[in-house]
Amino acid sequence: MNIRFDEQKQLFQINTEHTSYVIGIADGKYVGHVYYGRKIEDLTGIYPLLRTGEAPFVPSVNMREKCSFADTFPAEYSTSGVGDYRESCLDVRTTGGHRACELSFEGYEILEGKPALAGLPSTFAKEAGRAKTLEITCKDECIGLKAVLSYSVFEDSDALIRSVRLINEGTEKLYIEKALSACIDMDDENFEMLALTGSWARERHMTKCPVTYGRHLISSTKGESSHQEHPFLALMTEGTTQDQGEVYAMNFIYSGNFMAMAQVSQFNSVRMVMGIHPEGFEWTLNPNASFQTPEVVCVYSDEGLGKMTRTFHDLYREHLIRSPYLHKKRPILINNWEATYFDFDTEKLVAIAREAKKDGIEMLVMDDGWFGHRNNDDSSLGDWFVNEEKLPGGLKTLVDKVKAEGLAFGIWFEPEMISPDSELYRRHPEWAIQIPGRAPGMSRAQYVLDLSRPEVVDYAYECVASILRSADISYVKWDMNRQLTDIGSAYLDAHTQGELMHRYVLGVYEMQERLVTEFPDLLLENCSGGGARFDAGMLYYSPQIWCSDDTDAIERLAIQEGTALIYPLSCMGAHVSDCPNHTVGRITPFMTRGHVALAGTFGYELDITKISEGDRDAIKFQTKLYHKYHPLVREGDYYRIASYQQNHLYDCWEVVAKDRSEALVTFVQVMSEPNFKSRKIRLKGLEPKASYRLEETGDVYSGDVLMRAGFLVRRDHRDFSSRLFHFVKTEE
Ligand code: GLA
Repeated sequence: MNIRFDEQKQLFQINTEHTSYVIGIADGKYVGHVYYGRKIEDLTGIYPLLRTGEAPFVPSVNMREKCSFADTFPAEYSTSGVGDYRESCLDVRTTGGHRACELSFEGYEILEGKPALAGLPSTFAKEAGRAKTLEITCKDECIGLKAVLSYSVFEDSDALIRSVRLINEGTEKLYIEKALSACIDMDDENFEMLALTGSWARERHMTKCPVTYGRHLISSTKGESSHQEHPFLALMTEGTTQDQGEVYAMNFIYSGNFMAMAQVSQFNSVRMVMGIHPEGFEWTLNPNASFQTPEVVCVYSDEGLGKMTRTFHDLYREHLIRSPYLHKKRPILINNWEATYFDFDTEKLVAIAREAKKDGIEMLVMDDGWFGHRNNDDSSLGDWFVNEEKLPGGLKTLVDKVKAEGLAFGIWFEPEMISPDSELYRRHPEWAIQIPGRAPGMSRAQYVLDLSRPEVVDYAYECVASILRSADISYVKWDMNRQLTDIGSAYLDAHTQGELMHRYVLGVYEMQERLVTEFPDLLLENCSGGGARFDAGMLYYSPQIWCSDDTDAIERLAIQEGTALIYPLSCMGAHVSDCPNHTVGRITPFMTRGHVALAGTFGYELDITKISEGDRDAIKFQTKLYHKYHPLVREGDYYRIASYQQNHLYDCWEVVAKDRSEALVTFVQVMSEPNFKSRKIRLKGLEPKASYRLEETGDVYSGDVLMRAGFLVRRDHRDFSSRLFHFVKTEE
């Protein structure tokens, strides 16, 4: 890791162990992108790539063609209104109503360490000496706006972290209409674009398409990162696979509205941008005030998607997730949602806990329906007091009983919401997000709380905290079950309504920050109608996030493959549920459901008092597997071996210990085939010269054989069957 500035060549070079990012100053003024890719030690001859040499466009030489210059220059941070007609990162309006901004280089600073971003989740270094940050300061003198472009790198990572701070140094207000976090301008190389798309119960499926002329947008305006489109975008050179090809990826550390775009321009350059979605966004920047954009993580890989994935996983485990559970086994939980839905009481929950204990389950999580008069999803959000009809004697009585059965206790909340049928709404209708005079649209019969309002944040936080103070609660599932509409706040004035969506997200972050500060030992799991807020922002607060409401083992293959493309397996909330599956009606073997859930945090979502003896035996077996394999799954390197999404037959992934001493391979045969051949599987990431014993058979293989020639998975004529293979390094 190193950052340096070559005064003579006017070049910044930001190096990680395997990558270089080069920025140049053109004409003493324009901050431009020169190079991103595999590490280059000697930059001799690179400067002309900034393309200012391509006269007649250099402004100092030829001012009459300045606009042509602006529209072709590879900008580090594009602005609108002055000739660059490609996607801008920054749109600013003045009090005079004009929209134009041009940033000129002012200076730079190279800092030891990685500064935190106030109020926002951000990557961090455990020790200052292990990270460096470059801050390039630019200014538009005409409107008095300063922009500090920030680039951070860590000693042990190939990722580059970017964000921007805007400061109003003028005397008039400025209105920020768009402030993205990062931009990369490159030449087009016939890139393919990779995105994660889906819907409820089908989140983060990998979707590829060619990047042709024009703008290709991935975005959310729903107030959260969303089920449908994910704050991630990668451009890949032709033929990129898991192991080869160049990949340029961006992932946003933010949980609200976002946009990510790849745009091919008239001269075949590609611009990649990412940041807060500008739709409906406006931020008033008073004189001396500043605005901080969230962080974008950029990852370059010249060894395909696999290396990109492992760079993201390591970065998030080392530099983003703070929870004390990060490197610990999570208690195996049983959640009563699919077991009982709203129909439960103390007796039922304690019976589940009693039986769960016998099979090795360690924590009971009480889901939705324990408060107010909530017997279905029509009411009571906001009224966070215990329903004593269901839980006589209150929460503490229940928790004590569950603990007496030998299980820890966890609880569900949806703190950001308010039901029209609630005491809270009757007292404070103005606390709901809505536009005066317009009946707000309901979704799941609920409204969203206006978290731009400090007393609402205080109230919602106190509701959660006072419940946690009242009993011995080890875990919280923090849910968020509707998207935002009717964007209006009774708290903000006419000029600041455009701040609501971002202030909402800041309010969520503030509540979760308070929560993990007051309850440092709490295990927090975020959730949003399944996996609509599975994003890097939430990982700063919770080490795990519920991946999807779809617990079907086969649908989960695609969801978990897409999720694990960026996020460590240790974050993926994954449970075994009953069959026929409640979402898709599919029947799969209990063992397959277990093997798929073992790739995540692991737990159960079923009524253990009602399932068969055979399934009970399987639980006993699976909970032992969890204890055996979870440290490896949590800490190891993830390799995608085969994708059911691509081959339509089988799925296979592998986790290899960092010291390459063991590997766990999960194989799921989705569709059985009419032939008698075993399938050959080639592994990755092992030590070529070491020997590995396959625990199940005792057979010994060299690492080279496993990686080059492969091993045989015997044929199995059952759809949806699965197997685990555990290879352990031996001295033989
Ligand atoms: C969401 C969650 C589910 C469950 C329900 C309860 O849909 O994703 O797991 O908690 O809410 O209402």
